[in-house]
Amino acid sequence: MALTGLVLIGFVFVHMAGNLQVLAGQAQINAYAHSLQSLPWFILWGSRLFLLASVVIHAWTAYSLIIENRKARPDKNEVEVTKRAGWSSLKMGLTGSILLAFIVFHLLHFTIRTIYPEYAEMTTTVGSTADVEIHDAFSMILAGFKHDIISIFYVVAMFLLCRHLAHGFSSVFQSIGLRTEAWQGKLDLIASGYAWLIFAGFSIIPISVLAQKHGLYEFYDPSFFVSEASEKTNTSNLLNNES
Ligand code: HEM
Repeated sequence: MALTGLVLIGFVFVHMAGNLQVLAGQAQINAYAHSLQSLPWFILWGSRLFLLASVVIHAWTAYSLIIENRKARPDKNEVEVTKRAGWSSLKMGLTGSILLAFIVFHLLHFTIRTIYPEYAEMTTTVGSTADVEIHDAFSMILAGFKHDIISIFYVVAMFLLCRHLAHGFSSVFQSIGLRTEAWQGKLDLIASGYAWLIFAGFSIIPISVLAQKHGLYEFYDPSFFVSEASEKTNTSNLLNNES
């Protein structure tokens, strides 16, 4: 579990850092998304399969552990520590299960694009080095988070991810034997700081889109937020039809 946990802890940081490029504008995030999509197929699919296997193995071992813990339910005269461990693994099971559902939704939303199939048709030359049509990840992200409910769902999921990470990261330190009594406080602080960083870095994206949609702050090119926007990309009409 510690190994797959570490892979996922690393992945969320890289993914968050990549996504934050949306704040730098359409050309930046589109060029980044296109560079990932253009990786040699064996690297792209190899890393996707590796990530998928990490999620599946992580969830599988977690569920097996919960079931084992249940079977070995402590007697009433067991010490408080056992009860607390049971409660935190229950919370990890719950937040982990919701995150699993989030990941499925997220893939259908932005990667497979079956929830809004029109996202697959969003193309532009902005961000393309060869001046050819590429996928318009910028417009897709803005369109995706212009839906209040979806943005709120993402922020709630990121909060659950934060709680899951804070505990999970400490457990990794424990598994690899670093979490000695002397280091416990410092390592918990590192785990908690990391978890909040991930929460802030991911959540700023849906929050910034909603803030601009509701006229609170201008993060992005305002023409992406007006219905009669100029036809700057092939996707402007699709984007401005989003409610
Ligand atoms: C506000 C938060 C997030 C945003 C804006 C976001 C954005 C995106 C976008 C735009 C894509 C599609 C990339 C493309 O095909 O061009 C994507 C794919 C993906 N995201 Fe996220 N993401 C967020 C949070 C997360 C979280 C928390 C996880 C995992 C815990 C995650 C896991 C994935 C995975 C596994 C993929 C598929 C990567 C691939 O195609 O190989 N995302 N995300």
